Amino acid sequence: MSSSLRLWFATLLVLTQLINGALCWGKEGHYTVCKIAESYFEEETVAAVKKLLPESADGDLASVCSWPDEIKHHWQWRWTSPLHYVDTPDYRCNYEYCRDCHDTHKHQDRCVTGAIFNYTMQLMSASENSHTIVHYNLTEALMFLSHYMGDVHQPLHTGFLGDLGGNTIIVNWYHNETNLHHVWDNMIIESALETYYNSSLPRMIQALQAKLKNGWSNDVPSWKSCHFHQKACPNLYASESIDLACKYAYRNATPGTTLGDEYFLSRLPVVEKRLAQGGIRLAATLNRIFSAKPKLAGL
Ligand SMILES: *[C@@H]1O[C@H](CO)[C@@H](O)[C@H](O)[C@H]1NC(C)=O
Ligand SMILES: *[C@@H]1O[C@H](CO)[C@@H](O)[C@H](O)[C@H]1NC(C)=O
Ligand SMILES: *[C@@H]1O[C@H](CO)[C@@H](O)[C@H](O)[C@H]1NC(C)=O
Ligand SMILES: *[C@@H]1O[C@H](CO)[C@@H](O)[C@H](O)[C@H]1NC(C)=O
Ligand SMILES: [Zn+2]
Repeated sequence: MSSSLRLWFATLLVLTQLINGALCWGKEGHYTVCKIAESYFEEETVAAVKKLLPESADGDLASVCSWPDEIKHHWQWRWTSPLHYVDTPDYRCNYEYCRDCHDTHKHQDRCVTGAIFNYTMQLMSASENSHTIVHYNLTEALMFLSHYMGDVHQPLHTGFLGDLGGNTIIVNWYHNETNLHHVWDNMIIESALETYYNSSLPRMIQALQAKLKNGWSNDVPSWKSCHFHQKACPNLYASESIDLACKYAYRNATPGTTLGDEYFLSRLPVVEKRLAQGGIRLAATLNRIFSAKPKLAGL
């Protein structure tokens, strides 16, 4: 291909991504986060979730965890596109809610962490006070919360504003041209599925669940905990994400780089851990929301 043609294709790719808005953990990523979460639900959570799920879910939360991605291009849901991520100032490698959580029109709270607070609050107000008239659609609140809890754990969903969380960084993933954001949403997971799990997502999920019971079991309590008795702490997760974005995602991945085995093998453990953390924290948050048990001191 001539270089001007290549440039044109690269521009087209970037434009397509911009029009589509930032993408998210792919279907596999969201399915994994929600599947892991389901196995950590307490009894009350199982019951509450079952009641809220749409019929199309057939009783399985994981099957509707990509719903917010499917609807975000419809005009009446366009306002939700900025809720999938939060952009931070270039090269600063930190995140601050008040500074960063807004959309391009500077509407405050319109970002992934704001959305997690919003939908947690909606589910809480319904479960705490069943007498007040609930004007929120709690089915939507559950699906949004479950999806955004996954997104906030994808390191490049808390990425730099200048490159739109890696969307404008064109790289090669082995022989295929793509962008860095897509590598973290999809390609690392897809390559892992092909390389280690005979392209079977249930097998990958099983492997992560085994790690949660073994190698990660000592870390799980700290992953769950939320300071100051909050129900959800997305700010912590976004801070972790930008830190990982700087240490792993952006590192050695400048525009035009070919990412291969070295990048894949060193970054896969990060992706696996973030999927597992997303699942554990989604379950912990929903358990805190729906648990009817009085909170005893020290628990
Ligand atoms: C909170 O959620 C409701 C229902 O989806 C929405 O109308 C509202 O704009 C949201 N607020 C923010 C700040 O995202
Ligand atoms: C709640 O939201 C779901 C998904 O958008 C929709 O199918 C359902 O009709 C809504 N329920 C009400 C009562 O509006
Ligand atoms: C490259 O793209 C082709 C065609 O879409 C796909 O079959 C293949 O799996 C991709 N390779 C990698 C390493 O992702
Ligand atoms: C891998 O998947 C293919 C197609 O789904 C199947 O035929 C094959 O038996 C699987 N291999 C192993 C080792 O499970
Ligand atoms: Zn998303």
